[in-house]
Amino acid sequence: MFADRVLSGMRPTGNLHLGHYHGVLKNWVEMQHEFECLFFVADWHALTTHYDAPHTIEQNSWDMVVDWLAAGVDPSRATLFIQSRVPEHAELHLLLSMITPLGWLERVPTYKDQQEKLSEKDLSTYGFLGYPLLQSADILIYRANKVPVGEDQVPHIEFTREIARRFNHIYGREPDFEEKAEAAVKKLGSKKARLYAQLRIRFQEQGDEDALESAKSLLDEQQSLSYGDRERLFGYLEGTGKMILSEPEAMLTAASKMPGLDGQKMSKSYDNTISLREDEASVTRKIRTMPTDPARVRRSDPGNPEKCPVWPLHIVYSGEDTRQWVQRGCKSAGIGCLECKQPVITAVLEEQRPMRERAQQYLDDPTLVRSIIADGCEKARKLASVTMRDVREAMGLGYS
Ligand code: TRP
Ligand code: SF4
Repeated sequence: MFADRVLSGMRPTGNLHLGHYHGVLKNWVEMQHEFECLFFVADWHALTTHYDAPHTIEQNSWDMVVDWLAAGVDPSRATLFIQSRVPEHAELHLLLSMITPLGWLERVPTYKDQQEKLSEKDLSTYGFLGYPLLQSADILIYRANKVPVGEDQVPHIEFTREIARRFNHIYGREPDFEEKAEAAVKKLGSKKARLYAQLRIRFQEQGDEDALESAKSLLDEQQSLSYGDRERLFGYLEGTGKMILSEPEAMLTAASKMPGLDGQKMSKSYDNTISLREDEASVTRKIRTMPTDPARVRRSDPGNPEKCPVWPLHIVYSGEDTRQWVQRGCKSAGIGCLECKQPVITAVLEEQRPMRERAQQYLDDPTLVRSIIADGCEKARKLASVTMRDVREAMGLGYS
């Protein structure tokens, strides 16, 4: 069986904030210990909506990579790269565009949604329509099977699956597919070959789904099959062709519940964020000036944490004891709001300290980040070129 490969990308939107940390980056940091991971800066995707702001792309990209590293993404575990520095993504995007029905792109819900949301921009461009297809190329080029994304991106993953299926359907039928598949069956050894053949017949003639599942797990257990043979046997089993591109799955990143400074969810568009590496004085000031329960006009007025935007931060950052202290102190006017905010300030600063420390070396020596990205791009290009060879050949561009 092929090892899991995780891929995810982020548009370089500027400094990341604690919402990104709690929602996405912590998740990436965990996954890098479990899976092979590729994380990239989706700079071309940024241009699909911000084509008029080219001067922001590069700085935002470097800043974002520093934020990743600060959060604990480890370049010795995960491959970090920049989309536009792996031009194979563009080649695959182009080739996939040949078989992508316009209607599929127009029906992706983010297309109309974003056009309406960003109505001050002209997004009736070819590039913006192709946004999900570029994302498909990002994923399919690495044959990544796990794609951590937020809820809003799920339609893009679904779209990617459909593109992969369509590609395999059109190009997966090698002229000598049947012979190659039969030859691969023999390589299973006589006992397993017989079992595979029986299960295949049971599925194809009687639609027996259990037989299909058993045959699939039989194939999963075969360590020694080559990628090509394995894909042929899967395709042969289901009566499709060879699987050249594999269908990814979305790994849902739980929506970030990170509250912002005003009680709404933390988001750049609400202007209520604390950035990942914000300096201590600024963090302190932002939290100290947060609004609180309006009933507490004077220090002696009791309040209710449920009506206060500071309370959700206690839920993220404070333990049970502190929370009880807040509840009691607020309702009895036993504590002042600044007093109440202090444990949150302390906890945020505590959380950020290792991030600021990790970032420092990269700020001191920017060539470190350049070289991490250069290495990552090189690794990514190697992986991408394996798929591209198969894709070109399947589409008649082998030129061997
Ligand atoms: N569209 C994604 C977003 O806005 C970013 C992205 C681009 C991506 N390519 C990707 C995410 C491939 C996962 C896989 O968040
Ligand atoms: Fe909010 Fe705390 Fe003030 Fe109560 S005491 S209003 S919870 S900041």
